[in-house]
Amino acid sequence: MKKTRIIGAGFCVPDNVVTNDDLSKMMDTSDEWIYSRSGIKERRWADEKTTTSDLAYEASYRAIKQAQIDPDEIDMIVVGTLSSDYFFPGVSAQLQERLNLRNVAAFDIKAACSAFVYSLSIADQFIKTGAAKTILIIGAETQTKLIEKSTEGRDIAVLFGDGAGAAVLQTSSNESCILSTHLHSEGKDLKNLWMEAPGTVENGWVDDAKIFKSKFTPKMNGKEVFRSAVTRFPEVINEALKHNDIKIEDVKLIVPHQANFRISEAVAKRLGVDTEKVYSNIHKYGNTTAASIPIALCEALEQNRISKGDIIILAAFGAGYTWASAAIRW
Ligand code: ACO
Repeated sequence: MKKTRIIGAGFCVPDNVVTNDDLSKMMDTSDEWIYSRSGIKERRWADEKTTTSDLAYEASYRAIKQAQIDPDEIDMIVVGTLSSDYFFPGVSAQLQERLNLRNVAAFDIKAACSAFVYSLSIADQFIKTGAAKTILIIGAETQTKLIEKSTEGRDIAVLFGDGAGAAVLQTSSNESCILSTHLHSEGKDLKNLWMEAPGTVENGWVDDAKIFKSKFTPKMNGKEVFRSAVTRFPEVINEALKHNDIKIEDVKLIVPHQANFRISEAVAKRLGVDTEKVYSNIHKYGNTTAASIPIALCEALEQNRISKGDIIILAAFGAGYTWASAAIRW
């Protein structure tokens, strides 16, 4: 069986910084409320003209440049997003065109905050079996366009931000490789974190009389999401440790989905590790859903928090619920 490794990564966030104080001018909230409950100080909001595919394109361009490959080598594009430019088709085919790639396989997956680790796992399977040699994976969102920026939507509005992160994966010829990936889901509590429309359950939702604005914004039961996240993150990280017969001490860095700093703190406590071992940049970007792990990975690499030979674990939890982990030897 072949092995897969990450040969390049890149990210892109919009220039527009929105601080907690900016939000408190738009809705009844405060820096103290937001920071103490989430660890977020500021986030980026895409302007009206910037789309998810714009951010995804820029992140992909940077990842391909860092990978130092000829774009013609790319065999497949997998995009994780909840906020595609259009209801259909997905962002992946737009990237094929914008990056001027061959007519390669391109598809989007809707696994919410777990989408990047899901994409990584899908790419790993294709490369390990020899069905593909080089795959571009992306997590990209402009979900702040979907949220209600008012007191009514404040529980969600203060948490989320926009951005994109990408990675190029290729067959590995050395020790550096994806060791394992672990993917899970449980749909019974889907309404704890969901956006009802646009969907097909209400046949004819396009009929003016049937449009309910409130169904077109994400809804969250914050306390329940918190409870599930602090259980599933350690569970899926421990699964990766057990599968590879390694101990948490052998792991250099955990790069989790940036949901909430308090969730990361609780995860560190349950794993018995210092909070420093769980990478965090949520204070700068908020929760960027599918984009948060690749953005965090890029920053951790830039800050030399990961060196050749280190073992790292990516871990995600999000709507569905879905959750996932990946153990990687860098
Ligand atoms: N500013 C000010 N007050 C607010 C805000 C806000 N932005 N949002 C809610 N409130 C109010 C509520 O209305 C409530 O008021 P009340 O007591 O008068 O009814 C009060 O603050 C307390 O609200 P709670 O929901 O009890 O606050 P809690 O301490 O649970 O914190 C939070 C809310 C931050 C959402 C928390 O539940 C949480 O961290 N949940 C995890 C959810 C999460 O991280 N989601 C990320 C997306 S999912 C993912 O990525 C995995």
